[in-house]
Amino acid sequence: MSRIKIKDLLKSTSFGSEVTVKGWVRTKRENKEVAFVALNDGSIIHNLQIVIDVQSIGEDLLKSITTNACLAVQGTLIQSLGKGQTVEVQAKHIQILGLADPEKYPLQPKAHSLEFLREIAHLRMRTNTFGAVFRIRHAMAFAVHQFFNERGFVYLHTPIITGSDAEGAGQMFRVTTLDPKNPPLNEDGSVNFKEDFFGKVTNLTVSGQLEGELGAMALGEVYTFGPTFRAENSNTARHLAEFWMIEPEVAFNELQENMDLAEDFLKYLVKYALTNCLDDLEFLDDRFKKEEEKKKQEERSDMGLIEKLKFVVESPFERISYTQAVSILLESKPFKKGQFKYDVAWGVDLQSEHERFLVEKYFKKPVILTDYPKEIKAFYMKQSEDGKTVKAMDVLFPGIGEIIGGSQREDDLDKLTIRAKEVGIHEEDLWWYLDTRKFGGCPHAGFGLGFERLLLFVTGMGNIRDVIPFPRTPMNAEF
Ligand code: 4AD
Ligand code: MG
Repeated sequence: MSRIKIKDLLKSTSFGSEVTVKGWVRTKRENKEVAFVALNDGSIIHNLQIVIDVQSIGEDLLKSITTNACLAVQGTLIQSLGKGQTVEVQAKHIQILGLADPEKYPLQPKAHSLEFLREIAHLRMRTNTFGAVFRIRHAMAFAVHQFFNERGFVYLHTPIITGSDAEGAGQMFRVTTLDPKNPPLNEDGSVNFKEDFFGKVTNLTVSGQLEGELGAMALGEVYTFGPTFRAENSNTARHLAEFWMIEPEVAFNELQENMDLAEDFLKYLVKYALTNCLDDLEFLDDRFKKEEEKKKQEERSDMGLIEKLKFVVESPFERISYTQAVSILLESKPFKKGQFKYDVAWGVDLQSEHERFLVEKYFKKPVILTDYPKEIKAFYMKQSEDGKTVKAMDVLFPGIGEIIGGSQREDDLDKLTIRAKEVGIHEEDLWWYLDTRKFGGCPHAGFGLGFERLLLFVTGMGNIRDVIPFPRTPMNAEF
């Protein structure tokens, strides 16, 4: 008999029919006559109740049905009399597919800390929390493609190994096949990368944007969605060394349209989660409330998770310039009382405490900050007439801070070449990028959405390590 997924079975009304289900034991309770097993197969957060007649199953078999053992159950679908479930399966035949020694199995049917679960990331997906998170992660990835596909964007696969530093931040992972103990050397003693695998210095990409721009100059509207690597040694709850980024790039768009696209995109994704992931969101909403209760009153979110998601879908994002943001911050209570850790001044990059003040305390909704000083932004951003700012935009979200970074791009060849030189980028490394400005260049714009930052928001999880299956962070590449 072919297996039925628990997700489908829980909706079924074919009472009396014979079914086969397979999954992992979440809990088992028993008395002298019957045992109840809660079985989960990952297709849905809810468990299926299996009712077992203790007399007929035999003692040995019953004993080996322990938490997290894997079972195949054949039985009859019956209407459940128990609370909180509509159907259950009266077992006729049970086969143990995989034993789980209860003495050694690290997951117990009780609440574990997220920190502990990170140490057993190979098993943590079997918990309700991580099952919900990774089903939502899948749904969001699917929605990303659906959003762009509906709008005629082309999904462009940009390289993971690159010879350029798109962000100019220099926090890259080197890719090399040279022998670290005995590399070929130049006469001056430096490593001769001409003898390396690619005949030059290469790194893991920090962004697919530059190649994305090449695509937009031909296909009009493209997006990338791929792994991104940054060797920034920031051990925060918002940074990963390996994360996933979605980068749309659109020919003929200017800053205004870029902002509209970003806002539409985020709202679409959140709405998709609300429509398609409600079971998991309800579970995470509950979890979120319990986590918030542990926090100090003033740090608590004044909305529940689902409430927060609905709020973002419904409210227009606030749009202000960096200059306006700095004025608001200089006038703010925490600034005047010296409560900010970092200084606020025009020309200095905003820190996450400033961004969160603007979003969570001042506007109380998502904010798009634009027109940053050119010195604190990447070389490729479109310079404004004022000579001081660039057409940059950062989207800031409650509880997260920056979720999107983007800009209109500099399409003036001279300005771009000068700016690249100023920040130390060699023309010979970037000739192909500059070429687009020589041959049919046009205004264009794009942005990057950090996929895990989006997931932090949608799932209400507090640490970015808990929304990616196997996190890579400084000193951690287990699993
Ligand atoms: O602001 P960033 O650095 O922008 C770019 O890389 C541009 N090339 C994007 C573009 O215009 N096409 O990064 C974009 C987003 C951030 O807003 C953040 O959400 C996420 O990527 N991000 C990270 N997420 C997790 N861990 C990190 N270390 C991240 N660094 C950036
Ligand atoms: Mg940024």
